[in-house]
Amino acid sequence: MSDLSGQPQPNESPTYYVETYGCQMNLADSELIGGVLTGRGYRAVSTPEQADFILLNTCAIREHAEQRVAQRVRQLIAMRPSDRRTRIGLAGCMVQHHRDRLLDAIPGLDFIVGPDGYRRLPELLDADAPVAEVRLDRSETYEDVAAVRADGVRAWVTIMRGCDRFCTFCVVPYVRGRERSLPADVVVDELRTVAAQGFREVVLLGQTVNAYRHDDVDFGRLLRRCVDVDGIERVRFTSPHPADMTPATLAAMRDCPQISPYVHLPVQSGSDRMLAAMDRGHTVDEYRRLVADLREAVPELALSTDIIVGYPGEEDGDFEATSRLMDEIGYDHAFLFKYSRREATRAFKLDETVSEQEKGRRLQRLIAEQEARAARINRTLVGTVTEVLVESPARRQPDWLAGKNPQFKTVVFEPHGAEVGDLVDVAIEAAGPHTLKGRQLVA
Ligand code: SAH
Ligand code: SF4
Ligand code: F3S
Repeated sequence: MSDLSGQPQPNESPTYYVETYGCQMNLADSELIGGVLTGRGYRAVSTPEQADFILLNTCAIREHAEQRVAQRVRQLIAMRPSDRRTRIGLAGCMVQHHRDRLLDAIPGLDFIVGPDGYRRLPELLDADAPVAEVRLDRSETYEDVAAVRADGVRAWVTIMRGCDRFCTFCVVPYVRGRERSLPADVVVDELRTVAAQGFREVVLLGQTVNAYRHDDVDFGRLLRRCVDVDGIERVRFTSPHPADMTPATLAAMRDCPQISPYVHLPVQSGSDRMLAAMDRGHTVDEYRRLVADLREAVPELALSTDIIVGYPGEEDGDFEATSRLMDEIGYDHAFLFKYSRREATRAFKLDETVSEQEKGRRLQRLIAEQEARAARINRTLVGTVTEVLVESPARRQPDWLAGKNPQFKTVVFEPHGAEVGDLVDVAIEAAGPHTLKGRQLVA
């Protein structure tokens, strides 16, 4: 306990506070950071004011992501109490991206640590002068670090790190380094651990998760091993790359009912010209065929995607092709982004040809189309029964419960005896673009 002045008491364990930005892999990394620090006697706290060490785990994917963090860390530095030596640092992808200039650019920052440096955090926290640990390590997988997870029903488990694809627009391979997979036995052990902790669903994580390979175990074989873990009812994964989707993975999805019928399959554009310019490694037709094969293997499949509008050279015709493809595929959900030019990437040298205003217009159009599409798809589910893994009280109606169905759609429902952690059948009575509503069926 701290006294009222906020001063740490002698002999008490030092406290840390982590704020996470970016993707699920970063969230999983924050849980590893928690593992490294609690292993050395640090204690997590839930507000920056209580912390001896403040760490923001950052994202570099788009400029906006970096601007948010830069603002936030400057604010935390300005708020630092003058009578207390709170150390403030940045971790993650933005650190790796700006490794040579961050400490100079943000006065008052005490340490920076890239995605492969988290083992060294205890030393960095103890250093007297500003320090940087920004080496990428092509063999670091943290396979022996026990993640500290918040309670819940869904555990995020990193199975591979890095990316070797180098899509022209993307900073990930530069900030996360080369692809490397964890041994299958380590992954399966981790699933047993989270099952014993009470998690009922796992999401296997990697930037190109289906490129997983360790020794002779590929992603399809790994999936088959994961579904055998007692206590894990549902296995999901994100994000697969279309060009890495193998028959073995499709067959595992077809054969194993525990693998959820939902795939996030980023396409980026519906124009072959743009896909080639981005070096995505597949054509629109190949993507269409893959979706057809997936739907054949998993008839109840839900699909989501990522789209970038305004990549250099994108013309009206390319954009219209994207809009048409989204309609044709019938995505349940889509993450839509304006192209953001990133230093170090191959596309960085290309002049932008689409104005910010035009990017905004294209984005708004796709958002409106997607909302209508999702609402339309979800309305067809009214009158059906779906299985929900209960996660929490519903946000707007605390006497109702909320959770996800197998297709990863959020369902809020009137309970009849269900509790968090239960798998229950819910009759769907209403639907919007983002949520299904219903009532629990009593057995
Ligand atoms: N590994 C995943 C994507 C990870 S990044 C995959 O390849 O499928 C998540 C999404 O951010 C990407 O799919 C892309 O749509 C978007 N993105 C990445 N770089 C971007 C950039 N420079 N500008 C805008 N969006 C970008
Ligand atoms: Fe980025 Fe492409 Fe790798 Fe995805 S596959 S992380 S978009 S380089
Ligand atoms: Fe961002 Fe790094 Fe994830 S750049 S999207 S946090 S891998």
